[in-house]
Amino acid sequence: MSSAKTKLLGLPGSLRRESYSRAVLQGLAADNDGTVELQIGHVDLPLYNSDLDGDDAPEAVREFRQAVAASDGLVIATPEYNHGIPGVLKNALDWASRPRGSSSLMGKPVLVVSASPAFTGGVRAQAQLNETLHAAECRLVGGPQIVIGNVGDKVRDGRLVDPAILDFAREGLKRLQAMIAG
Ligand SMILES: Cc1cc2nc3c(=O)[nH]c(=O)nc-3n(C[C@H](O)[C@H](O)[C@H](O)COP(=O)(O)O)c2cc1C
Repeated sequence: MSSAKTKLLGLPGSLRRESYSRAVLQGLAADNDGTVELQIGHVDLPLYNSDLDGDDAPEAVREFRQAVAASDGLVIATPEYNHGIPGVLKNALDWASRPRGSSSLMGKPVLVVSASPAFTGGVRAQAQLNETLHAAECRLVGGPQIVIGNVGDKVRDGRLVDPAILDFAREGLKRLQAMIAG
């Protein structure tokens, strides 16, 4: 059996410095079973414009697509904005979904997590995110949805530290690894 770690790219759907979504990913990056390397990226890209797309797409977009392509799988942690996903996250996924049929998202295994200071945990955003990922032909990890309510109480020093939710989320990581292993 290979000892290589599963290379995952974590995408927080927020640009906020103290983002809880990033804190969730930081928690998973620091506290997993050691078989995962979770690098945390960003979704800070120019607004999608087909006129700018193609081989000469903006550098940040080309780097983003390469980071997605180079990963074994994605972990997307989304906040909820007005019952949907933040525009910055949708925008980044729109860029990554092109060119249609050969994009970096085609067939990519993805684990979705949502988090909110509200008890609802961003569950409506998670449903919308799943739709977008289906449209982009990703492979979505099934099983119990990882929905983190009252996230402000579960984060310390920029990291998810709640043991129960970390355990639950790590099970999701295992399902993602199993999907990647085929
Ligand atoms: C424009 C806007 C809309 C929001 N709408 C919702 C919402 O529908 N449901 C919810 O649970 N929280 C909502 N919130 C609160 C966010 O969950 C909260 O700001 C969260 O911390 C954002 O994620 P982040 O910490 O990763 O930046 C909203 C926040 C903003 C700025």
